[in-house]
Amino acid sequence: MSDYETIEVRPMSERCGAEVLGIDLGGRIGNRQWDEVRRAFAEHGVIFFREQRLTPEQHLDFARRWGPIDVNRFFQAVPGYPEIAEVRKEPEQKTNIGGGWHTDHSYDAAPAMGSILLAREVPEHGGDTLFSSMYAAWDALSEGLKETLLALRAVHSAAHVFGEKGGYKQAAAGGPQFKNAALAVGEVSHPVGIVHPESGRRALYVNPAFTLRFEGWTAAESKPLLDFLYAHAARPEFTCRFRWREGSIAFWDNRATWHYALNDYHGDRRVMHRITVAGSMLG
Ligand code: SIN
Repeated sequence: MSDYETIEVRPMSERCGAEVLGIDLGGRIGNRQWDEVRRAFAEHGVIFFREQRLTPEQHLDFARRWGPIDVNRFFQAVPGYPEIAEVRKEPEQKTNIGGGWHTDHSYDAAPAMGSILLAREVPEHGGDTLFSSMYAAWDALSEGLKETLLALRAVHSAAHVFGEKGGYKQAAAGGPQFKNAALAVGEVSHPVGIVHPESGRRALYVNPAFTLRFEGWTAAESKPLLDFLYAHAARPEFTCRFRWREGSIAFWDNRATWHYALNDYHGDRRVMHRITVAGSMLG
């Protein structure tokens, strides 16, 4: 039975995600309600809200309650709101943004803590987002593999995605939605099994979009183990799936989850506003 008193929290699946009901994110949120929202976020890794028709200012106010905003340097911003990234796919576009398993900003030395995605315009069918719990993925590994991974760091980069020769630049219709390709350079490394800075729980921290290799290993040497970890972390029992409506919000923890935006709505428009909240170095 749920022990929340000021909100209703309905888990989306056994290990990942919960819908939060009984709260107006554009209204006044009292301390007790706020503590419970924070607890739901920590427990479920990603939380979902419905019918939140926030103005961009209200969206920003909600984000700032969690921490400073981490302005994404590669996404085009919503006009007039440099801190809000636009995640848009037009009817004639074939490529979508985020159409593969990833976690946002793992290419940064201090990756974003969370992302708050608000649906502005959604297709009638399709365009759902999948999430997977990296706590569940870590927990389900054998003790032997955990021990091996605890000795490893992985190298991450944005260059092959947002850079001059990156995937989005090559995608015919994807290019104009991004900027600053010249800034997508360099590499950073993070532990493969991070200790989550707030929960203290261990989570798997590699992802197919931005992880290049294990530190000190070649890409070819890293590939078999990374491929195993990617297949493992995407196991359906670690995941949940969110069906968007206009005004829906997903708020995910980038250190505890992956996400995947399905690209199954060609011919329709989908427009989302995303704010990322700054995080810290990972240990
Ligand atoms: C993203 O990867 O940040 C976008 C996810 C989505 O559009 O569902």
